[in-house]
Amino acid sequence: MIEVHEDFIDAMPGIREVADFDQANPMLSFRPTPPQRAWLACAAPRFQLRGGNQLGKTAAQAVGLLERMLGPEHARWVPRELIPPPPANVWMVCTSWKQSLTVMAKVHAFLPRGMLAKGSRYTTRRGFTGQSFELQNGSMCSFLTVNQDDDEMASATLHYIGVDEPPPESKWGELVARVRHHNGQIGLTYTPINRPVGWLREKVEANQIVDIHAPLTLANVWPLGADRPFQTQEQLDQFADEVPGWQRAQRVDGDWEGATVGRWIPDYDEDKHMRIENAPPGAAISVGIDYGLAPGKMAVILVGVIGGFTPTPSVWFWDETCAGKDETWDTLMIAKKIKEMLDRNRLDWRNVDYWTGDRSLEKGGSVIYENRKTRSALATLYGVGFSEFPNVAIPKKKENSVPMGCTAINGLFKRDRALVHPRCARFRAFLKHFNGNPRDPVKDAGDAGRYAVAAASNPETWSSFIARYY
Ligand SMILES: Nc1ncnc2c1ncn2[C@@H]1O[C@H](COP(=O)(O)OP(=O)(O)OP(=O)(O)O)[C@@H](O)[C@H]1O
Ligand SMILES: [Mg+2]
Repeated sequence: MIEVHEDFIDAMPGIREVADFDQANPMLSFRPTPPQRAWLACAAPRFQLRGGNQLGKTAAQAVGLLERMLGPEHARWVPRELIPPPPANVWMVCTSWKQSLTVMAKVHAFLPRGMLAKGSRYTTRRGFTGQSFELQNGSMCSFLTVNQDDDEMASATLHYIGVDEPPPESKWGELVARVRHHNGQIGLTYTPINRPVGWLREKVEANQIVDIHAPLTLANVWPLGADRPFQTQEQLDQFADEVPGWQRAQRVDGDWEGATVGRWIPDYDEDKHMRIENAPPGAAISVGIDYGLAPGKMAVILVGVIGGFTPTPSVWFWDETCAGKDETWDTLMIAKKIKEMLDRNRLDWRNVDYWTGDRSLEKGGSVIYENRKTRSALATLYGVGFSEFPNVAIPKKKENSVPMGCTAINGLFKRDRALVHPRCARFRAFLKHFNGNPRDPVKDAGDAGRYAVAAASNPETWSSFIARYY
C-alpha cells in the first residue's frame, strides 16, 4: 500500500499537498482546477487545453483517459453521456518515447488498484509493457509517439484519443480517421511551443477545435474546493521570471506566439556580469569542448563552479579558446590550445575536475574528432599515460537541450549567480546575440559553456525551470 502511495507522489507531487489521498482509488483524490474541469467536461468532438507549463495538462489527460476507460458509472468529471459502455479502446499520443514515460507514470498513478487486467504490467523505468495496458473490464489503451509510421497508426477504431503536446499536422488526418467510426473525441493538451502550432490555431479559428486557454495564474492552479493552490504565487513568479522573455508568453500564458524573438540570454548584462575575476580557490574546475568540422566552429570554455550541486551555485566563465573565423583545428591543436589556456591561468591538468566534449564527428567515414582522441592528445602533451589522464565525458543531452540549457544559463544571470571574464569574447558574443539560429557562429561557444557548467553542477537542482519542465 505504502508503495502505491509513493509511486503516486513521485508522478504527481502536487496532489499530496491538496487532497485526502485515497490509496485504493487515486481518482477519488483528484480535484480539478478550473481549466482542467472545463476541459474534462467538454463535449466537443475536438477540444484542447492550451496553457502554460506545469498547469496540470498531463494530469487532466490521465484522468480523462481513465474515466473513459472505466465506463460511465465511474465518471466524475467527464460527462457520462460522452463515455461509451466498456470496453473502450483509446490512444494516448505523445511526442517521444521519453515523454510517453512521464504520461504513463501519471496514468498509472491514477489507476485504481486492482483494475489492471492480468496480462498488463507497469514499471517505473519502462512504463507499461508493450506501451499499452488493458483494464479488467476489457478497455484498452495504447501509448503512441508521433514519430510512429502511419502504418502502425492505421486500422484501429477508437473511442477517444488523447494528445499530449502539439502533434505534427501530417498526423491529424490519421487521428481523425481512427475515431470516425465511434464518433470519438480527440482531446489535446499542450503548451504552444517547440513545435509548429499555426495549423492548430487555424482549426481553432475555424471552430473545428474548441479552445480552452489557461495562463498560469493562481486561480488556474487552484483545485476545486482545496484550501490552497498546488503552486504558490512566489513559485509562479519565479518561473515567469526565469523563463527568457521570448518564451514567456507561451510558457507562462499559453499564448499562441512569443512576444519578440530576441536573444536567448536576455538577462546577461555586461555592466553587472562582466568582471575581471578568476574563480576563487575551492571552485570545481570544468572544461567544455564543442567540436566542429567547419572553419571557426571549435570552442573550448573554462569554467569554475562553487556549490554546483546546491540550489544556489556560483559560476565563473573564466577563459576560452576558440578557433578563428577561417581556422580548423586538428585534435593536436585542440590539445595545445587547451594547455595554453590552462597554463595562462596557472592550472595543471590535475586541477581540472570535469572534462566534457561533444559527440564525435565524422567526415567521409572516418572519425575526425572524438573525446578519446582529445584525451590521448592531451595525455601525450602533458607526458602522462592515456589511462592516467581523466576521461573526457559526453554531455548529457535531454530533449530540447539547447533551449533548456540556454534558459538555465539565463537563470544564473537573472539571479546574479554568474560572472564572465572579459577575455571570453566568443562566449560573451553568444550571451549577447544568440537567438536560436543553429548556424550562428557564436553558438559553439555557448554549447561548450553549457557543457562545462552542466558537468560541474546539477541544473535540475538549481534551475527551477528545468526541474519543473521535466
Ligand atoms: N488538480 C490538481 N491537483 C493537485 N495537483 C495537481 C493537479 N493537477 C496537476 N497537479 C500537479 O501539478 C504538477 C504538474 O502537472 P502536469 O505534469 O500534469 O502539468 P503539465 O501542464 O502537463 O506540465 P508540462 O507543461 O511540464 O507538461 C504535477 O506535479 C501534479 O501533481
Ligand atoms: Mg505535461
